[in-house]
Amino acid sequence: MASSAQAKVAVAGEPRRSVSAMAFVSDSTTLGRVSADLFNLTMGKANVSEGSIDNALAISEWPRNLDILIVDLADSADPVADAAALRTATPAGCMVIGIGRINDVALYRDLITVGFADYLAMPFAEGVMGRTVERALEVRERGGAVAPQPQAPGKETKPRTLAVLGARGGVGTTTTAVAIGSMLGSAIREDVLLIDFDLHYGTLMLALDLEAIDALREALDQPDRIDTLFIQQVAQKKGDHLYAMGAEEAPNAGFQARPHAASDFLRAVHRRFRWIVADVPRGDPVIQRQVLEAATDVLLIVDLTLPGVRDALRLQQMVHDVAPGARLLLATSGAIDSRRSAVKIADVERSLKRKIDCQIPSDPAAALQAVNFGKPLPEVVQGSAVVKALRPLLATLDKSPDSDVARKGATSVIARFRQGLRKK
Ligand SMILES: Nc1ncnc2c1ncn2[C@@H]1O[C@H](COP(=O)(O)OP(=O)(O)OP(=O)(O)O)[C@@H](O)[C@H]1O
Ligand SMILES: [Mg+2]
Repeated sequence: MASSAQAKVAVAGEPRRSVSAMAFVSDSTTLGRVSADLFNLTMGKANVSEGSIDNALAISEWPRNLDILIVDLADSADPVADAAALRTATPAGCMVIGIGRINDVALYRDLITVGFADYLAMPFAEGVMGRTVERALEVRERGGAVAPQPQAPGKETKPRTLAVLGARGGVGTTTTAVAIGSMLGSAIREDVLLIDFDLHYGTLMLALDLEAIDALREALDQPDRIDTLFIQQVAQKKGDHLYAMGAEEAPNAGFQARPHAASDFLRAVHRRFRWIVADVPRGDPVIQRQVLEAATDVLLIVDLTLPGVRDALRLQQMVHDVAPGARLLLATSGAIDSRRSAVKIADVERSLKRKIDCQIPSDPAAALQAVNFGKPLPEVVQGSAVVKALRPLLATLDKSPDSDVARKGATSVIARFRQGLRKK
């Protein structure tokens, strides 16, 4: 690992003191500018190399006296998660400054939240980085508010996409996706975005009495053109913390999503919304697969019918195949009264070889009220049994899926161990 350079820098109103600086920059023009600025500040001893945040993340031992670290986030698929990971590794007194191509205030805020001192969007002129470094050092000297604070333990920053998927049509997928989005936003006091990925026949916008928009299809075609302004215009506000977007393409307007369209789109929208709840269509296998691939959590809703169980089995397999890292939650539908079903909960659990996470009760009156008012069911009938049943599911969602994946791994080892004992 390269060692940091020691130098002297003048901090306004203070005597000169020793400063060490390191930078990883991939863009050659920016590399030249950062080198020039750090050269002046560190008297030629800054350690500037071609690279990105990946190179910084690969460093296992940091110089304890490192004052300034500049990292290029331009190629990072998940800049905030990478920034958070880096901030937990770097020494507490080190001021980390990010640079990147995204000019987005939401990204800036997220980076500050995870403990970055500042962020500059490229291109920037010579001298800008020098002033940014001086400001960061001044703030640190004063013990100021912008001083990097590692993320409070337990506070999540990772983008999360919950894909809500019905094993069959009409099982309450849209109603449940909207209810979860609304409850989640209120619970975590964070903006949640609902997206209806059924571009032709989706009913999410209709259910919320919002305008469908044409731009969703264009955005899926060209996700690189999505910026903060686009998201602001397209995501319609429905509540204090609830936003929604959906389209209403003409029935004869064909649309074939290009590879990774949905995941590119979701990544772009996650710059503004950490939490996205996606209403996943059953009729479009391409989009369905793409959204599942990008999901961190999947909620599969199954009705208590033979075709429902058959399709839940097939979709469960598909989720395991295309999204092995995602947390899969299973719920039974409330749209059809389970008391009149030939298939029982135990039959579903036996067939799918797992427990049901949530039994959504039937509440036709509340569902009807939600439709009539064009609002999420939990806002219209707060005391509905549906709301009560969804609460534990929400608590599960509020936890990181990573811990579940780790636990799943541990359980399967124990299960295999037990099986081994039984065989003996
Ligand atoms: N828990 C529930 N209790 C009673 N009725 C419900 C419940 N959830 C949904 N419904 C009703 O069931 C019908 C279908 O709901 P919804 O549109 O949410 O299903 P969907 O699975 O999204 O349908 P589609 O396959 O058409 O997208 C609606 O009339 C809705 O009001
Ligand atoms: Mg629906």
